[in-house]
Amino acid sequence: MYGKDMNELVLVLDFGGQYKELIAGAVRKLSVYSEIKPGHLRAAEIRRINPIGIILTGGPNSVYLPDSAQCDPAIFTLGIPILGICYGMQMMCHMLGGGVSAGETGEYGRVTVIPSNQSVLFDTDKPFKALMSHKDAVTRLPKGFIASASTASCFAACENPAKKLYGVQFHPETKHTDGGQEIIKTFLFKICCAAGDYKLDDYIDTQVRKIRQEAGKENVLLALSGGVDSSVCASLLSKAIPGQLVCIFVDHGFMRLNEGDEIEDLFSRQKLRFIRVNAQARFLAKLKGISNPEKKRKIIGKEFIRVFEEEAAKLGRIPYLAQGTIYPDVVESGGAFGATIKSHHNVGGLPKNLSFTKIIEPLSGLFKDEVRVLGRKLGLPAFLVNRQPFPGPGLAIRITGEVTKKKLELLRKADAILREELDRLKHRPDQYFTVLTDTLSVGVKGDDRTYDPVIAVRAVSTGDFMTCEYSPIPHRILSRISSRITGEIPSVSRVVYDITSKPPATVEWE
Ligand code: XMP
Repeated sequence: MYGKDMNELVLVLDFGGQYKELIAGAVRKLSVYSEIKPGHLRAAEIRRINPIGIILTGGPNSVYLPDSAQCDPAIFTLGIPILGICYGMQMMCHMLGGGVSAGETGEYGRVTVIPSNQSVLFDTDKPFKALMSHKDAVTRLPKGFIASASTASCFAACENPAKKLYGVQFHPETKHTDGGQEIIKTFLFKICCAAGDYKLDDYIDTQVRKIRQEAGKENVLLALSGGVDSSVCASLLSKAIPGQLVCIFVDHGFMRLNEGDEIEDLFSRQKLRFIRVNAQARFLAKLKGISNPEKKRKIIGKEFIRVFEEEAAKLGRIPYLAQGTIYPDVVESGGAFGATIKSHHNVGGLPKNLSFTKIIEPLSGLFKDEVRVLGRKLGLPAFLVNRQPFPGPGLAIRITGEVTKKKLELLRKADAILREELDRLKHRPDQYFTVLTDTLSVGVKGDDRTYDPVIAVRAVSTGDFMTCEYSPIPHRILSRISSRITGEIPSVSRVVYDITSKPPATVEWE
C-alpha cells in the first residue's frame, strides 16, 4: 500500500531545519509512511489528516525571538505523540512554559549523551555519542516533563509520557548519532504504536494503474537524461503505457565515458519509442568563448529546452509530459528560500509553459533511496540505479574556463580512471569526480619539460549534498590515481586532491 489515504502517517513539521528529509526518510525506512508539511500547519487540519505521530524538525532561529517559527499551540493538546528534535524540542519546551536561552559556547559535533533509566524513549542507560548542533539550550523544563538524557552542559532529551510529548536536543536522524535509528523506532512503534504498513512492494502495480488512468489513450513525452529519476520514470511508464510513450534523450555531449551509448543501448531495448538527439556540436558552438560558470549553466539550460522543443514538434501532437520529479523536489519547491548559489539545471526539469495539457509525475511521492529500490524492482541495471548525482550541465561545469572537444576528451579519460579506482572500494565516497582546471603547471616527462593542465580530484562524504566533507581516501589509493592519470594521459602535468568541505566550498567547482 502507498500514500496517506491508505497508510498510517507520521507528519514531519518543518521549521527550516536542514535535516527534514533525512527525518522523513528515516521514518519511511522503518516502514512507516511520512510526509513533510509546513511547521505552522493548523491543529484542526492535523486532526483531519489524523497522523499517528508528529515530528518537529530543527530550525535555524532562536525560539525566544519575536519572529521565529512556531507551531499551532493546540497541537500539544491533540493527544497525538510528538517528538521535537533540536529546535523542535526547544520550541515545545518554550511554548509549554519551560525556559530556553543561548548557551555560552553551544555544542557542535558528536557529544556524549547520558540517558536516564526512567526514559520511555531510550531503551538503554549506557552513554552514547550523538550529533549536536546548537547554541541555544533548554534551561528549565515545562511542568510535567522529566529530563530523560543529559550532556555535560544541557538537557539532551526530555519527556512527558502522560501527554505523549518527547524532545531530543540532538539529531537521531543522522548517521552521526549512535543508535539514532533505534530512538526513532521506539518513538514510532512503542509510543505511536505504529503497525509499519508502508512497503514499496505494490507501488509498481498501484502506479501502473494510476498512470493508465491519467494517460487514457493519449501519447506521453518524457525527457530522459539517463539519471536515476528519469530512467526509473521511463521504465515505470513503459510498463504502464508501452505503446504511448516517447522518450527524448538530448545528448549534449557532456556525458561521461560511454554514458550516452549505455543509455541508448538500454532504452532502445525497452518497450518505448526512444529518440537520441545528438546535439554535441550545437552545444559546443553555443559555449564557444564562454568561461563564466553561471553563463555556461544558463546557455546549456536554454539550449536544452530549444532542442527538446524542436524534437517534440517533429513528433506531432503529444499532449502529455512526464517528469521524474521526486519528493524532495516537491518539498523544496514548496518552501525554498535563501540565496541562489548556482542555478541548478536538471535535464529533465522543463519549464511549465511548454504546451502540454497534463504533467504526469509518478515518482513525486518518493525519496531518492526509494526510487533506487523501485529501479531495482523494475530490473534496471546497477550502473543506472546506483548512479551518483550528475549535474544537468554535465562535464561542461567540470572544466574551468572554456569548454572544448579536446578538453572534454581529456576529462572523460581522467574521470574514467578515478571511477575505476574508487568503484572497487568497499566503502566508497558518496560522490567522486575529476575537474579539469585551467591552471597549467610545469612537469617533466622523460627528458622533456612539459607545461600542461592540472586535474583536481573531488571525493566527498555527505548525506544530503547540502553539506559535505572531503573523503579521507587512503594515500596509497590517491597516489595510484595520480600516477595512472599522469601516466595514461600524457597531456596532464599533475593531479591535486581537493580537501575542502561544503561550506565554504560547494561539491562541484562551478
Ligand atoms: P553543489 O555543487 O551545489 O552540488 O554543492 C550539490 C549536488 O548537486 C549536484 N549538482 C547538480 N545537479 N543539476 C543537477 O541535477 C545541476 O545543475 C547541478 N549542479 C550540482 C552536484 O553534483 C552535487 O551532487
